[in-house]
Amino acid sequence: HELTLSLEEIEKGGYDHFMLKEIFEQPKAISDCLRGRIDPDKGTVTLGGIDSIMDKLVNANRIIIAACGTSWHSGLVGEYLFEYLAKVPVEVEYASEFRYKEQLIGEGDVMIVISQSGETADTLAALRAAKERGALVIGVVNVVGSTIARETDAGVYIHAGPEIGVASTKAFTAQVTVLTMMAIKLGLSKNAITIKEAKKLISELAKIPQKIEEILQNTSEIERISNLFSYAPNFLYLGRSYSFPVALEGALKLKEISYIHAEGYPAAEMKHGPIALIDEMMPVVVIAATHHTNDKMISNIEEVRARKGRIIAITTPKNDEVGDLAEFSSIIPETMDVFSPLLSVIPLQLLSYYIAVNRGCNVDQPRNLAKSVTVE
Ligand code: G6P
Repeated sequence: HELTLSLEEIEKGGYDHFMLKEIFEQPKAISDCLRGRIDPDKGTVTLGGIDSIMDKLVNANRIIIAACGTSWHSGLVGEYLFEYLAKVPVEVEYASEFRYKEQLIGEGDVMIVISQSGETADTLAALRAAKERGALVIGVVNVVGSTIARETDAGVYIHAGPEIGVASTKAFTAQVTVLTMMAIKLGLSKNAITIKEAKKLISELAKIPQKIEEILQNTSEIERISNLFSYAPNFLYLGRSYSFPVALEGALKLKEISYIHAEGYPAAEMKHGPIALIDEMMPVVVIAATHHTNDKMISNIEEVRARKGRIIAITTPKNDEVGDLAEFSSIIPETMDVFSPLLSVIPLQLLSYYIAVNRGCNVDQPRNLAKSVTVE
């Protein structure tokens, strides 16, 4: 018989969908993103694209991050990273809101725009507005030579390779990787962290691709969970600190490709509203992957349990109490809290993928969505 492969099948490299291929490409995407940029022995970070503006970044009054969609979520992770590692105040803005509000930005401020495509209309408008007011604008972009990459004063490419699936996966983790490197570099320059601390951070960062690989090698539990909850009408995602943006991103992935209503919340905000929704029908995904907020997450889990919510925990071996309390859990490798989003987002990407496939959804091209939004 005849063996015919379409061009698309070849491009998918044996995977059923581009999204799944891109999820599995993350160890490589992050290795590519880190390559030649970090030195664990010396504790240094080299980012050629921002060398010339490092002085301005070090002296910045504050950093404003502007982006849309998944890139906005990586910006939120960036806020925690820059504030913790470099002790610089950060605001994260939806580019679409920033462009039309009172723009209190000017010389001495730095804007970081994050965009996979480098063509998002709102992000481009935010960058132009910031530039016009005299701020320095740095791009964190995937597509080389894109409009945003060309118009920014300086930038760092994420080198994730082409992302075809509309739902962003490897671009998110590569963006977070770049923001992490930038935060460490800035932290060193501002003496907010010591060389010794930087060495420890960078050595752990270098291990992240391998740890993602470990998660991807055993997806059976997350597949089982996906099969059980494929027809749930709603999902709630909760996280604190670094896991809060991951909760938002997990919920977004589910909405985008599975068409299930999902909301992400900072876990403590649950009592100000979403707790009213919790009953035995409500799956609650709890991202308990950081250690400094673990006790607080445990009380949130108990609150959900008391209302019979179905807890799906994304957690680590050391957070065993979480594993004991949850009805289902996906265990990810241990890492430092600052790097936890790079691992905890992976099972959430897979959860949305398997559920979308079970529901017969068009994973790579979900209805009403576009990969690149070049209009307002
Ligand atoms: C669209 C895409 C999202 C993406 C967002 C921002 O909504 O479907 O996946 O996160 O645009 O795109 P950008 O290219 O600027 O990162």
